[in-house]
Amino acid sequence: MRVSIVGSGYVGTTLAACLAEFGHRVVAVDIDESTVADVENGVAPVHEPGLDDLLARHGGDRLRATTDYDRVRDTDVTFLALPTPCDADGRIDTGIIEAGARSLGEALAAKDDTHLVVVKSTVVPGTTEDVLAPVVADASGKTLGEDLLVGMNPEFLREGSAVSDLQHPDKLVFGAREERAFERLRELYAPLRDDSDDHDDSDDSDGDREPETPVVETGIREAEMIKYANNAFLASKVSLVNELGNVCKEFGVDAYEVADAIGLDDRIGAKFLRSGVGWGGSCFPKDTSALVTAARDAGYEPELLDTAISVNDRQPERLLSLLDDHLDVDGARVAVLGLAFKPGTDDVRNSRAIPTIEGLLDRDASVVAYDPVAAENMRAHLPDIEYADSAATALDGADAAVVVTDWDEFAALDDEFEAMCSPVVVDGRRIVTRREGIEYEGLTW
Ligand code: UGA
Repeated sequence: MRVSIVGSGYVGTTLAACLAEFGHRVVAVDIDESTVADVENGVAPVHEPGLDDLLARHGGDRLRATTDYDRVRDTDVTFLALPTPCDADGRIDTGIIEAGARSLGEALAAKDDTHLVVVKSTVVPGTTEDVLAPVVADASGKTLGEDLLVGMNPEFLREGSAVSDLQHPDKLVFGAREERAFERLRELYAPLRDDSDDHDDSDDSDGDREPETPVVETGIREAEMIKYANNAFLASKVSLVNELGNVCKEFGVDAYEVADAIGLDDRIGAKFLRSGVGWGGSCFPKDTSALVTAARDAGYEPELLDTAISVNDRQPERLLSLLDDHLDVDGARVAVLGLAFKPGTDDVRNSRAIPTIEGLLDRDASVVAYDPVAAENMRAHLPDIEYADSAATALDGADAAVVVTDWDEFAALDDEFEAMCSPVVVDGRRIVTRREGIEYEGLTW
């Protein structure tokens, strides 16, 4: 198929590269000239494992990039993969995606054939049909349900494993009204569905074959809500293990042993049970706030989700109150290990390191921070603290340390911790269970 994708962030670029890998001809449309040049030259404009290889294979060939919206006319389907940031009240700001929808519609005005527009961005239920579809229809002069079809296909990629998540998804969700829209979406993702009759599923001799990806075909509002429900559930799951972890701590119980045991219950599941300093990133905080605000706007008070957010907001302060039990932080030199919102990325958006460092500064501590890749990004948020170029340098001369991101390399810090002025460590991620010879305290164990 011929596909265009508006927006070359980590979702848009990963989608573009994977669809090219499936054999489709893809055009990426972005306003940023350097992003377009990268894709044309076969270079990944964002860092994601595996993306460089796909871009090197298809960039400038099956995958083209342009700043010119008119190129969408040569395609059958356009995905809108533009950012939907939160405003100060937590509501999603649809300004960027509406502008993209308008430019797309203007370009489609000169196209005769039916076009399918698919919203990939995370938007609250109703946005696709009530806001974006009318914008495309007005600008293009096309008629919805006739020569303009609209769909919603949410994304469940994680940063740091986006390519692998797209190539091996747990599910595909297609929201649409018309059978013609579903047909195009099925065809686009056919290589993942592999539901052709030419193999016998009962034959287990080919143990390597991946199970067929479940496809959920549903309404557009349902597809929009599935994305929010997915993220709200996962964020709340982590907040619940954090709340249970705080209770465990009060009882002198190891929350990780408890989590391992409850995770054996299929109804609970073993994933996303790591308690600690909380969730961050560009998605969970934004999506939970947007859902809470949208629910409230609609007249429903979402108490449980609200509490999931406040439990998350409290965890960094809980980490620091454990530190307070060991030393007077005022005037102390405290090392902060880990600045990225999770390991494997240099993204510091909503990282729990930010409130942790702010709490230390409020206590008049002197902060020295280290992260293997995210220090430069954190410097833009917090320019006035000290940044070390290794964990050993950060710990050298420190009175205490807190662990905020579970980078593997922190698990090997033994001599470095012992060499601190007064070896007190509060671990917010359980990089190890305990360390002999130093005061090593876990947030939830
Ligand atoms: C998340 C979802 O996992 C994706 O499915 C979704 O597509 C994406 O948001 C999105 O909406 O775009 P991501 O933000 O990349 O992906 O990060 P996760 O790996 O889910 O981690 C989120 C946060 O939860 C991190 O701060 C992590 O440290 C924390 N976490 C995760 C825990 O504290 N404990 C856990 O057990 C798991």
